[in-house]
Amino acid sequence: MYYVGIDLGTSSLKLLLVDEDGTVLNEFSKEYPLIFPQNGWSEQDPNEWWNAVVEGIPALLKGYDASKVAGVGAGGQMHGLVVLDENDNVIRNAILWNDGRTFKEVDYLNNEIGKETLSKYTANIAFAGFTAPKILWMKNNEPEKFEKIAKIMLPKDYINYKLTGVHCCDYSDASGMLLLDVKNKCWSKEMLDICSVKEEQMPKLFESYETVGTIKADVAASLGLSDGVKVCAGAGDNAAAAVGTGVVGAGGCNISLGTSGTIFISSDSFGVDPNNALHAFAHADGGYHLMGCMLSAASCNKWFAEDILKDGNFAELQKDITDDKLGENRVFFLPYLMGERSPINDTDARGTFTGLSLDTTRSDMVQAVLEGVSFAIRDSFEVAKSIGVKIPRSMLCGGGSKSPLWQKMLANILNIPLDLPVTEQGPGYGGAMLAMVACGKYPTVIDAAKALIKVKATVEPDKEITERYEKKYQQFKQIYPTNKELFKILAK
Ligand code: XUL
Repeated sequence: MYYVGIDLGTSSLKLLLVDEDGTVLNEFSKEYPLIFPQNGWSEQDPNEWWNAVVEGIPALLKGYDASKVAGVGAGGQMHGLVVLDENDNVIRNAILWNDGRTFKEVDYLNNEIGKETLSKYTANIAFAGFTAPKILWMKNNEPEKFEKIAKIMLPKDYINYKLTGVHCCDYSDASGMLLLDVKNKCWSKEMLDICSVKEEQMPKLFESYETVGTIKADVAASLGLSDGVKVCAGAGDNAAAAVGTGVVGAGGCNISLGTSGTIFISSDSFGVDPNNALHAFAHADGGYHLMGCMLSAASCNKWFAEDILKDGNFAELQKDITDDKLGENRVFFLPYLMGERSPINDTDARGTFTGLSLDTTRSDMVQAVLEGVSFAIRDSFEVAKSIGVKIPRSMLCGGGSKSPLWQKMLANILNIPLDLPVTEQGPGYGGAMLAMVACGKYPTVIDAAKALIKVKATVEPDKEITERYEKKYQQFKQIYPTNKELFKILAK
């Protein structure tokens, strides 16, 4: 049997066709545009996602026996607000996870409702990218559209709805809405009230590995699939990536260098960061996790290389950054191109280069960008350590993890070994694994991970480089606090 894994990313859709022994048989990817209607805002048209699926699945299956496809599972960009009217038509563009427009609503939630109350209801506090503040933003700024909302869902749930006709969501993704009582895995009535939303407007909740339905006959025919293909609930892309890198059960860690940068710590029991700097969410294996999320990670490198240097050859741009240069760079980069979520929660923060001089080279600046992202990941890593979480090593995945230089920097900046999985397309592979569990190939997600996930290589930290980076990290840590007030002024 075959399984289709969907990674509904921010910059592109990636599809994997996976054999039942876990071999990736074929891949498809298609980029779609991001829309920035104002500085710090970020949207996408859900129809673009669906069109990419409609184009992608037949292309993925070309040359393969499509009748062997048993199940489909998706990992999707989290938190995006997708709103449908009573005829299930999209009311407006989706407001994405890296959109910062809701600072007033976040202020209201965190300061008037209060962080303690929010944390009691949902295990989390409000961040601009979360879904609840966006619902309030629509209520305050687009009241006519708000009145039309019949269903609220997240990005991958829109794809699952288009495939099956079922309005569904899984617990891992629902956790990031700030509407779920994460501990008890049900919608928080109090939060729905605060957002003026009724439970009928919310999708039905499932575990990620549960089947939500089968693909509708007409849709299956148009995609070249047989009748009866099962669709599982899937997961938020970080939970799906953790599944796809084997970070399930207690005590695992996965770092993803994608458009966003995340550090994901799996747990078999519910737990909350007392300061709520890390998110406390449900995991796709039935357990829970803590997560730090930075809004711009590999996207900083892509932006600097492609948009600023007009040079998309990443390997070439990084080739002069030899070991002796690691921990010696005088240039620092703050990676807050879209504001920042974890751990500083500041929509006004922006990117900066600091320490430029006449002898600064293009290569120093490329290095600073990769280092700035790695230092910012360390900020969340330090928060996790400060609340007693042990992270002796981590898996590493996402587009940025393909760079041997970036792997080395991160291993040394965090001072832990980083394991690279054989399949680094975490969310899509995790989606396919969830579909395998839904179809009965494995009894649990943990069993699927044990059978399928293999480490390809490990990047060990080097004592000297680690020491040099320690000094640089202590310097980096001072840049944001020194600029914090300035960012507020510049945002006005
Ligand atoms: C996680 C988050 C991002 C998106 C990226 O909280 O906002 O990692 O899921 O797709």
